[in-house]
Amino acid sequence: MKILVTGGLGFIGSHTVVELQNSGYEVVIIDDCSNSSEKVLDGIFAISKKMPVFEKINLREKEKVHDFFKRHTDIKGTIHFAASKAVGESVEKPLLYYENNINTLIYLLQEITANKKQSFIFSSSCTVYGQADQMPITEDAPVKKAESPYGNTKQIGEEIISDTCRVDPELQAISLRYFNPMGAHPSAEIGELPIGVPQNLVPFITQTGVGLRDQLSVFGDDYPTPDGTCIRDYIHVVDLAKAHVVALERLLAGKNPQNYEVFNVGTGEGSSVLEVISSFERISGKKLNYSIVERRSGDIITAYADTKKANEILGWKAGSTLDQAMKSAWDWERKIRK
Ligand code: WQD
Repeated sequence: MKILVTGGLGFIGSHTVVELQNSGYEVVIIDDCSNSSEKVLDGIFAISKKMPVFEKINLREKEKVHDFFKRHTDIKGTIHFAASKAVGESVEKPLLYYENNINTLIYLLQEITANKKQSFIFSSSCTVYGQADQMPITEDAPVKKAESPYGNTKQIGEEIISDTCRVDPELQAISLRYFNPMGAHPSAEIGELPIGVPQNLVPFITQTGVGLRDQLSVFGDDYPTPDGTCIRDYIHVVDLAKAHVVALERLLAGKNPQNYEVFNVGTGEGSSVLEVISSFERISGKKLNYSIVERRSGDIITAYADTKKANEILGWKAGSTLDQAMKSAWDWERKIRK
């Protein structure tokens, strides 16, 4: 069965392609390589011993999207990762984010809904909750006004899909709200490849550990948390990738009573920035050079998932600990810096 993975050369996309191929699916990747490299295909092949079909297409080009679906009439499901995802950049360049994250979703759905019985998985984010009032965060926690155009594109994306499913029962869709993905495939054949200075905590930690960065700046330790630093739910990217396969299989089997569902995808555990640093020091045996600096604007204090819905309905649960995820991130960092 042929599955389209947009953004399939990216961090979460590539790990999902591996899990799909390991589960016997035929994968077609669309990626514009603006934030990824074709070399990732070699890593995917090294792990799953299968080479996915790859087409370099910019999904903002509506005609190219239409032409793709004319050539691939046997696609049964789509997992849509392709999007711009840097929160800070989205504040500087809102129109680029609305064009790249919204127009592309619309062009994809226009093609997909022209066919019967299509499954669609959307890469969403816990960002839609903003600072939730209660922990752990459930799927029915209110979606709050987005703190960034990036977060807004995820909220708008979910609404576009929900509105489309309402009028098209042939479209079966799930939005997966990721918490904080981290780590790399244990084979160290694929992993996170941040371009430039990493915005996210874990790649900055491992780049500091390997000597690429002098020092990690911890953005504030005066938050109302046990150790004063922000708390997040860090999930191993392979656990996250597996959640996509399970969600897809739910749709392909027609097991979803509504044709649109939302699931939180996290571990259900919260870890503070200092706890993540301790995890790195434990698994690497190295002391991390860091200093406490001012808070980063837009940061929420605490976010970790209530994973009951995914556990019970998808039958999926994250299996890796923070240390296991951190070890995979560290192994990957050392491999790519060799
Ligand atoms: C985590 C914690 C920082 C860097 C973002 C997006 C979210 C998703 C994941 C795409 C925070 C602290 C960070 C650093 C630090 N992206 N930190 N020093 O902000 O929770 O989520 O990435 O889907 O949508 O919002 O992740 O890794 O940037 O920050 O102290 O150099 O680490 O303040 O408390 P975040 P993050």
